Amino acid sequence: DIDFNLRPNKLDTYIGQEEIKKNLKVFIQAALERGDSLDHVLLYGPPGLGKTTLANIIANEMGANIKTTSGPAIEKPGDLAAVLTKLQPNDILFIDEIHRLNRVIEETLYPAMEDFALDIVIGAGPQARSIRLDLPPFTLIGATTKAGSLTSPLRDRFGVINRLQFYTEGELTQIIMRAAKVLQVGIEKAGAKQIALRSRGTPRIANRFLKRVRDFAQIEGDGIITEEIAKNALDRLNVDKLGLDRVDRKMLKMIIEKFKGGPVGLGTLAAAINEERETIEDVYEPYLLQIGYLNRTPRGRKVTDLAYKHFNIEVGS
Ligand code: ADE
Repeated sequence: DIDFNLRPNKLDTYIGQEEIKKNLKVFIQAALERGDSLDHVLLYGPPGLGKTTLANIIANEMGANIKTTSGPAIEKPGDLAAVLTKLQPNDILFIDEIHRLNRVIEETLYPAMEDFALDIVIGAGPQARSIRLDLPPFTLIGATTKAGSLTSPLRDRFGVINRLQFYTEGELTQIIMRAAKVLQVGIEKAGAKQIALRSRGTPRIANRFLKRVRDFAQIEGDGIITEEIAKNALDRLNVDKLGLDRVDRKMLKMIIEKFKGGPVGLGTLAAAINEERETIEDVYEPYLLQIGYLNRTPRGRKVTDLAYKHFNIEVGS
């Protein structure tokens, strides 16, 4: 599968997140030298920044197997027990969207993480008793878009906690050049830069745009992604100069036009633009906060003067 190949499988070919990479190299080498499993790792940050990619790289660098599941997929403690009891020593268990684990399952995880033990309750009522099963040493890698919504007992059980950052334009350009090579599509650096500029600091978006721009290059150009082709293609995809899409613009304009620039509460805003609160918080807001178009205040969301300028609307009008 081509998407799989788009993802690097070694820390050295993973572009960006320099601080995280440098530290992980130390932790991985130290664990390998001691013959230990790596301590549990929490990766958090907005979607599309490479949490899953990084989890797979960690497994690869540790020479370990990785089992992947997600918070919503584990419905009963038995589901978790089934996964845990199948682990081999030093395996990696990757739980995506770990903030969505329910309470009971989360509590099953505590002894598993801390003591590599699984407490199983047998029977019910006054007859109930619990037996403890030993688990092999393993590494839990948890990923979440919101570290804030993890309970502190869970968060505290991770030995390594990393927050992924948005990528710079230069890093995204490198990622796009690398991906173009994997896809075997010709690209000029200026073309890659155009895509990078509009990818909201996010490799997943950059790779998606790359594929669409490739289509335009193939059908309407001579197959090479030039600056011109990239610009035209992205305009046709309704991506503006900053990479803001329809929802970003709708949200900012709504705050400006209907709520006088804000503050407006998240629930009110969500209803006004017909999106889920969580989607706004996890997907749209982080980048708008990052580029300084939006502020969070105790009374709700407020747009900044920069956002007014972006739409050529006079501030306070
Ligand atoms: N593809 C997606 N994310 C990447 C990254 N951080 N480095 C290289 N290629 C990527």
